[in-house]
Amino acid sequence: MRKRTAAAAMLMIAGVLTGASPPERPDFWKAPAAPEREPPDNVPRALRLPGIRHWHYILRGVPQAYADARSTAPRTAATIETGGRLYKVHCAACHGPEGLGADVSTQSLLPSPSLLAFLVQKPIAVDEYLLWSIADGGRQFDSGMPAFKDTLSREEIWKIIAYMRAGFPETGK
Ligand code: HEC
Repeated sequence: MRKRTAAAAMLMIAGVLTGASPPERPDFWKAPAAPEREPPDNVPRALRLPGIRHWHYILRGVPQAYADARSTAPRTAATIETGGRLYKVHCAACHGPEGLGADVSTQSLLPSPSLLAFLVQKPIAVDEYLLWSIADGGRQFDSGMPAFKDTLSREEIWKIIAYMRAGFPETGK
């Protein structure tokens, strides 16, 4: 027993003296660079589609045009009022008057229109994420979400966002 311990110690010392290093081991914690990763394809299509925008944002962020964009809408009642009016005209038909879904015709879209009342409460719903989703729409994801960048100004989009974050209140108009 003693002999074996002594031999092991000798080998270790020899290793240190000759500069031999232990074999390389893969780094299990190092994630591959983001652009190589895709949403998991072992998820059924019906589950995969609603998540694809979120995946895309987490892995790739938003296009340069929206990066770090911050709302410029003043935090006033007038902002919410205008936002509400625009929401009714442009968004309610698909997302519902309170952001909780509209009638059955739009629910048959795949993915179906998001429940915006919930979405705006989630951590992902930062300014640049919402601006990008609304301005560019869902063509790149093959979804029915229209692009609004040619219909609404950025200022108007910020006002709609303010309205949604205020909890879709009655605005009277
Ligand atoms: C023709 C139906 C339709 C209209 C009109 C529409 N949307 Fe959408 N919207 C969708 C669908 C379908 C999705 C889900 C697919 C996607 O994310 O592209 C969606 C997704 C979104 C998302 C991303 C939600 C998420 O889960 O991350 C936001 C934000 C959004 N819509 C806001 C709006 C706003 C604001 C308006 C009005 C200016 C609007 N939408 C008008 C159909 C619509």
